[in-house]
Amino acid sequence: MQTRVIESTDPTSILQASGILASGGLVVFPTETVYGIGASLANEEALKHIYQAKGRPSNNPLIIHIAHQDILPTLVTSITPLEQKLIDLFWPGPLTIIFPKQAHVSSVASGGLDTIAVRMPSHPVAHALLETLGSPIAAPSANISGRPSATTGSDAFVDLQGSVDLIIDDGISSGGLESTVIRIINDTIHILRPGTITKEVLKEKTGAEVIYAEKADDLHASPGTQYRHYAPNAPLILCESMEALLSRAQQEKELGHTVGVLTTTENKGSYINYEPYVYNLGSRTNLAEVSQHIYIGLRFFNTTPVDIILGETFPPEDLGRAIMDKLTKASQA
Ligand code: TXA
Ligand code: MG
Repeated sequence: MQTRVIESTDPTSILQASGILASGGLVVFPTETVYGIGASLANEEALKHIYQAKGRPSNNPLIIHIAHQDILPTLVTSITPLEQKLIDLFWPGPLTIIFPKQAHVSSVASGGLDTIAVRMPSHPVAHALLETLGSPIAAPSANISGRPSATTGSDAFVDLQGSVDLIIDDGISSGGLESTVIRIINDTIHILRPGTITKEVLKEKTGAEVIYAEKADDLHASPGTQYRHYAPNAPLILCESMEALLSRAQQEKELGHTVGVLTTTENKGSYINYEPYVYNLGSRTNLAEVSQHIYIGLRFFNTTPVDIILGETFPPEDLGRAIMDKLTKASQA
């Protein structure tokens, strides 16, 4: 299959993309978090093609994207008052909520579970595509399973050329990290996947109890969190301090290894000996900037001859928690 790329500024992009989805094809589209690889929820064959294109295990469910709140009751069996409050507060935006699914919703999309993940994206292109298609789009992140998510149209092209019909290129994603995935159990918010909407914000805005799903049972409920994730080609080692990073870099150099460094604006100057294989994620005082560049940074090293990547760590609070979740998983690959 030939993959076409169309700029989001092309006035025909939405109509073309919606036509492809309606006839069972796959379209990569931008969202405010990362790019998604979408298929019409109504077309089970197309849903299966998403798993094939990504090399994704069939028990790792997809996120269902909707344009309007009134579509939700047609997909799920119940919406609790706390869930409704979260919807009113955070939709459209980067919050995915797990609901019990109605029987007619394809179990291909739900990975065989009796629940589904739903979100309403705020990105104008994603919204326009959902509006024009007039029905939900199932879309995981637009990357080969296990690799860093795609936050530019060209990164999606690198992974998915030949296996999707169209990529709508809108440049760099504003968020850079995937949506926060939550599930409500007994009026407590369980964070199954940390993201841009933080534990602190969820707690402050809802007044509800919020916990990270760390128990094996909870993690089991979000199958995606068990798999290898976000991995660059070279191994990533996280170093707790600049001293630790510099000393490890020296050791690696002595072993004849080419070293890459994933750093921040504040510390970049200390790694001058490792240029040009140094990537600056942004300022430590602006974690939104760091989030936006995580996947671009990890993918940058795939275009270099580095044997090993040494990365800085971040305090695991607020957005730092989601950043560390991604970096830790990338380093465990
Ligand atoms: O920001 C995002 O969420 C992006 C954009 C494209 O919307 N999408 C995305 O999808 O990150 P994906 O497929 O890469 O991640 C979906 C996550 C996985 O960890 C999956 O296991 C979890 O959501 N998930 C989906 N359905 C679930 C369910 N029924 N129960 C528990 N977890 C679920
Ligand atoms: Mg993903």
